Amino acid sequence: MKIKKLFLQNFRNYESECFLFDDGLNVLFGKNAQGKTNCAEAVFYLCTGASLRIRHDKQLIRIGAESARIVAEAENRYGKVLIEADIYENKREIRVNGTKISKNADLMGHINSVFFSPGELRLIQDGPDERRRFMNISISQTSPAYYTALLRYNKILDQRNVLLKNKDVELILDTLPVWDEQLCKYAAIIVKKRAEFLDKLAPFAKEYHAFLTDGAEELVIKPDRRYEGDEAEIAKTLMQRLENNYEKDLRLGFTTVGPHRDDLDVEINGVDAKAYASQGQTRTAALALKLAEVRIFEALAGEYPILILDDVMSELDLPRRKKLLKCIADLQTVLTCTHAERVLYGAECKKIRIENGRIKESGK
Ligand SMILES: Nc1ncnc2c1ncn2[C@@H]1O[C@H](COP(=O)(O)OP(=O)(O)OP(=O)(O)O)[C@@H](O)[C@H]1O
Ligand SMILES: [Mg+2]
Repeated sequence: MKIKKLFLQNFRNYESECFLFDDGLNVLFGKNAQGKTNCAEAVFYLCTGASLRIRHDKQLIRIGAESARIVAEAENRYGKVLIEADIYENKREIRVNGTKISKNADLMGHINSVFFSPGELRLIQDGPDERRRFMNISISQTSPAYYTALLRYNKILDQRNVLLKNKDVELILDTLPVWDEQLCKYAAIIVKKRAEFLDKLAPFAKEYHAFLTDGAEELVIKPDRRYEGDEAEIAKTLMQRLENNYEKDLRLGFTTVGPHRDDLDVEINGVDAKAYASQGQTRTAALALKLAEVRIFEALAGEYPILILDDVMSELDLPRRKKLLKCIADLQTVLTCTHAERVLYGAECKKIRIENGRIKESGK
């Protein structure tokens, strides 16, 4: 997948600007607060219909403007794709090849991207929320079924949690089994897909980690909880676990078991990385995980995703930077940094200098 052209209008600090991307490495550079991350964010938004930085689309609209528009001309193995997003204060419209889509799931998969920022480098040392988010975003892009199941699961879960706070215990105990059946149906889809994803991800992550550490360390990742059997059996197991926890859930007023609490285990040389690894070690492991994600996309979608590296180089030491550049040589990459020379070591690339929401220079 390749993005050829990106047009931004009243998006963040851009009034009107058009980016032409090369198939290889594209470097957006410039001083702080000029719009580099904003541009990277726009690319990711057109891939997933979401931003990693915000909860409300409204923030994407340039202050003082009424709406924002992002358009990308891209290409996947089936041909050209035109994606247009118009964002208004209370709604948005997204079109794929001219056809308006009604749900976000229909946007996923046209162009895939892997977004990598210093936040993702903390993937291992941060809490389980971040790791679940990593799995959710990644799997959703290649599986609309997962994305839909996740939305429905979260909705029922929210309602269940509201119910648990009700004073009428009898009502709760009457209602829970009915809801839980639905909840478990979607939970089983989520659990199964995550397990498949991690099974595929693990060998790639191990391979990259060995490369990044010159074979000195071995990385093992796996789900923190194993569920046996097919979806129906998983649903049954989950139902049983929910029932076993009725009392606890009632007492605490929220749902204490299910995929919204699951995590992934990360071991470096046989030791739990979350608890024992150094900062540098966890960063390297996170880098290996993100690079493995690229390969998963390739395996599932049949082509490489677009890689977005937002400010990552500055967080890595010299050998890791060089190795990262080697790993991404075949990918279309959008990389942001403040000083292009300091991070690229002569790698061939298209350089785009950004100043105050405008392209100031562009070329090889
Ligand atoms: N909705 C908006 N309207 C106008 N300006 C905005 C909006 N949202 C963000 N900005 C501005 O965009 C500017 C650039 O942000 P961006 O995060 O892209 O910077 P950057 O070039 O990545 O900088 P850094 O090197 O510090 O990461 C910021 O000054 C911010 O205030
Ligand atoms: Mg930035």
